[in-house]
Amino acid sequence: MKLVKRSFLMLLPLIIGFGCTQKVQTPEVQNDLTMIENPQLTYVLPSPRVEGSTSVETAINHRRSHRSYMNDALTAEELSQVLWAAYGISKPLQGYPQTRGGLRTAPSAGARYPLEIYALVGNVRGIEPGVYRYDSREHKISRVIERDIKQELAVAALNQEMISEAPACLFYSAVYSRTTDRYGDRGRERYVCMDLGHSAENVYLQAEALHLGTCAIGAFEDEAVRKVMQLPEEEEPLYIMPIGKYYDVSEF
Ligand SMILES: Cc1cc2nc3c(=O)[nH]c(=O)nc-3n(C[C@H](O)[C@H](O)[C@H](O)COP(=O)(O)O)c2cc1C
Repeated sequence: MKLVKRSFLMLLPLIIGFGCTQKVQTPEVQNDLTMIENPQLTYVLPSPRVEGSTSVETAINHRRSHRSYMNDALTAEELSQVLWAAYGISKPLQGYPQTRGGLRTAPSAGARYPLEIYALVGNVRGIEPGVYRYDSREHKISRVIERDIKQELAVAALNQEMISEAPACLFYSAVYSRTTDRYGDRGRERYVCMDLGHSAENVYLQAEALHLGTCAIGAFEDEAVRKVMQLPEEEEPLYIMPIGKYYDVSEF
């Protein structure tokens, strides 16, 4: 316990430093979806909206897990908004390399940000199908697999068909060492999954505010999912979250 307290206390100057020395920065507003083809297909996403008409209370009150999706196309703005809510940079910082760009929309133990987020695109207007890695720092996605693999992923996830039905999914993995390097076993056993929960809840609430649905999916075969997603060795698969318009079928 002492050790834990100390490691958070050690962070204090860093945290206070964020507050004192960094000016609030207004990110440049990018209205359009911009495609860059070299060296890998990349889309700079439209800037997220940072104000909306749904109150946080309403979003919390209406939030549900949805398991039946229409394949209506998502817009690039919707995908951008959901990725930003998940792990976007809300306070850019220079000089704190462990944050890899700054503080984010979801909290993270020691600002280590162990999560990696992928967008699995099937039907998103203006974006080629495939698997894309999200880059929070530049709010862009870069293609790592050149086709829609949601059907194979659904099979690896105990045939949960909502994964292939939805026009897009977010996929979470984690590089545990980013957190365990500082917090050891406590980081492995607690903090990484706590971080995941914070980010995933943001996705639930943002989806709700966009009148879209999602569902946190944690039941899958790890090795099969690793293979389908072609995950690097250092990444552990954690969650799949379909995103899309949904049929309102109440299961309870
Ligand atoms: C860690 C975790 C894993 C989950 N895994 C699945 C899953 O694999 N498949 C699924 O349909 N729902 C999954 N869920 C969603 C829960 O079933 C859902 O949150 C629960 O039934 C409560 O309903 P609500 O989210 O609508 O309030 C998961 C939720 C959590 C928090």
